[in-house]
Amino acid sequence: MKPISLTRFLIEEQREKGQIAPDLRLLIEVVARACKAISIQIGKGALGNVLGNAGAVNVQGEAQKKLDVLSNEILLDANEWGGHLAAIASEEMDDPHLIPHRFPKGNYLLVFDPLDGSSNIDVNVSVGTIFSVLKCPDGVTDPGADDFLQPGTQQVAAGYTVYGPSTVLVLTLGDGVHQFTLDREIGSFVLTQSDLRIPADTAEFAINMSNQRHWEAPVQRYVGELVAGKTGPRKKDFNMRWVASMVADVHRILTRGGIFMYPVDAKCRDKGGRLRLLYEANPMAFIVEQAGGAATDGLGRLLEVQPRGLHQRVPVFLGSKNEVERVTGYHREAIA
Ligand code: F6P
Repeated sequence: MKPISLTRFLIEEQREKGQIAPDLRLLIEVVARACKAISIQIGKGALGNVLGNAGAVNVQGEAQKKLDVLSNEILLDANEWGGHLAAIASEEMDDPHLIPHRFPKGNYLLVFDPLDGSSNIDVNVSVGTIFSVLKCPDGVTDPGADDFLQPGTQQVAAGYTVYGPSTVLVLTLGDGVHQFTLDREIGSFVLTQSDLRIPADTAEFAINMSNQRHWEAPVQRYVGELVAGKTGPRKKDFNMRWVASMVADVHRILTRGGIFMYPVDAKCRDKGGRLRLLYEANPMAFIVEQAGGAATDGLGRLLEVQPRGLHQRVPVFLGSKNEVERVTGYHREAIA
């Protein structure tokens, strides 16, 4: 069978399945094109003078890397003129970026983390881009931050790109999860796996164990049982993996199962958690649920959390369904 490009896949989703509107197709294509440009910059590494700090601090209080800034610019430049967006929000910008008046406006809101896992950039470990697409509320012509505050159930599309040994784009339009690999020679994303499914059971977990002493009781109990292995109540050994790039950890889980956790702990309790709801937790939760997995904030479905701020943080538990349900159950028991 001939390879199916992302372009053809999207046209078929639009034309044959009626799954997406033409504007949404254009939006996804533009994001994918920007991700190709980011992939090229990352691939240059030290030769492209793109490593190291940019010398500024973002809204999160984190030192921006040159590639954080560059990736943000690439995504903004690619998306502002096509006529498919009403506004853009990013991890790297305090407030939404409105579409300049000289360009037509569309009906969608795009939110992204341009370069996730940026502590890994300088050490040549996988990083990624995460994005989420929402509808601009009816009648709103100049969207503000409040218009982005929609629960994850309202997402019309979400995806991520992992810049690893190969560049892989994973996408959901609300009808399963599909994986595309960048063919660097022809410069096109090619469908390499349709309908990814996360196994309900797993023997692999991902958490930053160095935070153990700060965790709350339900997480102590759950991870304690995993670490006890065959001799503990679970009566089986578990393995641990932590890349410290959410995209890479989630991609592994999508490929072979596992549970990813970034709980709220004593270190990040004031902020509500470590990971951001709108451009990290929600798009990943949408993808994971579409692949048959589960995603919670420890108590309830992440996709149903009502956002209160553009850069709001949340606890995250996602991946293989039975494990996510178990750790969520431990949290519920603790407050019962
Ligand atoms: O943006 C947050 C992030 O970089 C995620 O990609 C990753 O999962 C996490 O932070 C890593 O956290 P830590 O520094 O605690 O390992």
